[in-house]
Amino acid sequence: MAGKLSPSVMCADLLNLSSEIEKLDKLGVEYLHIDFMDNKFVPNITFDTNMVKSMKKPMKNIRRDIHIMAFEPQQFFDKMEIGSGDLVSIHLEACEDAHAVLKDISDRGADACLAISPDTPVESVVEYLDEVCAVLLMTVYPGFAGQPMAPGSMERLAELRKIIDNSGKDVLIEVDGHVSWDHCGEMRSRGADIFVAGSSSVYGKEYELNEAVKKFYSLVE
Ligand code: DX5
Ligand code: ZN
Repeated sequence: MAGKLSPSVMCADLLNLSSEIEKLDKLGVEYLHIDFMDNKFVPNITFDTNMVKSMKKPMKNIRRDIHIMAFEPQQFFDKMEIGSGDLVSIHLEACEDAHAVLKDISDRGADACLAISPDTPVESVVEYLDEVCAVLLMTVYPGFAGQPMAPGSMERLAELRKIIDNSGKDVLIEVDGHVSWDHCGEMRSRGADIFVAGSSSVYGKEYELNEAVKKFYSLVE
């Protein structure tokens, strides 16, 4: 399976979100990475639940890839209208009972994904592999775009891929944070499947959006 792209909408032109999303949809991009932050689990706020809901507008290709950086994330699911077609990532570090929260996501017909921050051991995902479609490996400390990669991220990615492959489970790996032009190819070779592309690539200054998307796909095929 070729690498899939999930541009981080918090890095897009926020005053023209609808046309930004349509452009991505027309380019055949698979996911729209929507970062939701509660200003408690991470010291930042991005979109509110209304904005996340509004980004569920019917599109040809693109699906919502909602990354919830919030304590007890299930409290927001109704307002976001979580449902089929969505990929929803919740943080292991932010839930009392991640098993229950992941089940809630699946019961709503969405794909459940478990996110882990850079200081969380990759082995901690093992007990959840039956309940998720993907693991979101944070390669920066969650909360802000434009950060440098967290040390040891590439090794963690390779280790996570090995753990998942040894489990025999069909679970994808999504990488999020400083997925730069220089890093994305190596991330692909170390086992990443879905790439959150933000300020260090697709929303950088080097290329027009359509050129950037084409270049990204050429690096992660
Ligand atoms: C950070 C977010 C990322 C961020 C990625 O907490 O989860 O999605 O937007 O942006 P860059 O590519 O700039 O690190
Ligand atoms: Zn994110």
